[in-house]
Amino acid sequence: MVELTLPAHSKVGKGNAFKAPSGTKRIKKFNIYRFDPDDKDAKGQPKNPRLDSYELDMDACAPMVLDALIKIKDEVDSTLTFRRSCREGICGSCSMNIDGTNTLACIKPIEDVRGEVNIYPLPHMQVVKDLVPDMTHFYAQYESIKPWLQTTTTQPANRERLQSPEDRAKLDGLYECILCACCSTACPSYWWNADRFLGPAILLHAYRWIIDSRDEATGERLDELEDPFKLYRCHTIMNCAKTCPKGLNPAKAIAEIKKLMVERVV
Ligand code: SF4
Ligand code: SF4
Ligand code: FES
Repeated sequence: MVELTLPAHSKVGKGNAFKAPSGTKRIKKFNIYRFDPDDKDAKGQPKNPRLDSYELDMDACAPMVLDALIKIKDEVDSTLTFRRSCREGICGSCSMNIDGTNTLACIKPIEDVRGEVNIYPLPHMQVVKDLVPDMTHFYAQYESIKPWLQTTTTQPANRERLQSPEDRAKLDGLYECILCACCSTACPSYWWNADRFLGPAILLHAYRWIIDSRDEATGERLDELEDPFKLYRCHTIMNCAKTCPKGLNPAKAIAEIKKLMVERVV
């Protein structure tokens, strides 16, 4: 396993400045967080992160922030590192903090940002390099809620386990989650207790399986969450719902789990 270093965000220094060619008419400046754990100082310690700035010609750039990042990597600075795959808000890879908000770079229009565009990795995560956060713990938490259908009865012969349209509709607003982690990394409770609090994204998925009419492990799933930290560190601050680029509401899902916890003891 790669050993990761948590960079001191408060010590982000000024970095390199890449100017647009002279004569460029519509210039937009992108200030991008750079950190490379392999770039060491004289004492062998990773150098503090820095903010590099890149000027781009908006007449020669496609409209989204991810387009600008790809253009920078292709044409200006190939060392810039970030994740992306689908380019249409489906894979969740390009989540980052743009203009102070966690979002997906591929569906964030550049023109929505007034002035310079500041781009950082998702907050309060260890950084692998530049805009790439380490998602290992987040995925381990996801695995911990057993995000698959659990059954004890035998599946009916020659057909799937069926669900009424009404029961299927209960999954709306949940199944669309792409695990981008924008919500969890915007949650103050998760910042301070990520070791034990599951955070909004994972709890939304936990609820998705709890209310699935085909699942037969509802009691066990609720038992697993009956813990002062895993669930109850949510203080309904609502940052999660505000930031979700898919318009989902993890805080509501968490509230529904808490309601089920109360209902089963009365
Ligand atoms: S509502 Fe709960 S999960 Fe969402 S940001 Fe607030 S504390 Fe975090
Ligand atoms: S709930 Fe929204 S912000 Fe959170 S992981 Fe899912 S898609 Fe991303
Ligand atoms: S590249 Fe897939 S969500 Fe942005």
